[in-house]
Amino acid sequence: MFDPDSWYADEIERTIITEDEIRAKVAELGARVSADFADSASDTGDELLLVGVFKGAVMFMADFARALTVPVKMEFMALSSYGSSTTSSGTVRILKDIDSDIAGRHIIVVEDIIDSGLTLSWLLKYLQGMHPASVSVVSMLRKPGVQRVDVPVKYVGFDIPNEFVVGYGLDYAERYRELPFVGVLKPEVYQK
Ligand code: IMP
Ligand code: MG
Repeated sequence: MFDPDSWYADEIERTIITEDEIRAKVAELGARVSADFADSASDTGDELLLVGVFKGAVMFMADFARALTVPVKMEFMALSSYGSSTTSSGTVRILKDIDSDIAGRHIIVVEDIIDSGLTLSWLLKYLQGMHPASVSVVSMLRKPGVQRVDVPVKYVGFDIPNEFVVGYGLDYAERYRELPFVGVLKPEVYQK
């Protein structure tokens, strides 16, 4: 549990989603996806493939995979989107690609947050180009109404206000990823 007396306490303005809420939501998403993909392994002859995007999705990927009751394999990609640290530009570069052949496979892209949707939109096109059997998206968080491109996200944990959040994998300047909850930083943190 987050200790309010810890050295992050005077940097977090408020909690948006608690550790307990995250745990319950991950279980719910895991149950839904497991039900929807119960037959995927026998259908394609290979396991459902989770594709996580470094670094933000790592916490969610680890918890989500353990909430599933269907067998999976896991891949990770590292992408770099140019732009300032709190907005994204949609120009994407692959720093680490997936290692396996995804043709004919059922893919679930595991994302931390959908903001503009530009990163995800680019990634979906890239994966579709490799002719998988299907591509679905599960995202822990989504900022509604902010998407500059329409991306089909079938499984969403929480719709949150259009504020910059940290924790549960999400960073500001590479910090705060390890927080077990999702919160908003105090404005003075950005002014440092
Ligand atoms: P998008 O391309 O704008 O949808 O967002 C791409 C990436 O920006 C996400 O995967 C996050 O890594 C990062 N991002 C977007 N919003 C936030 C936020 O509120 N806090 C931390 N990172 C964010
Ligand atoms: Mg980031």
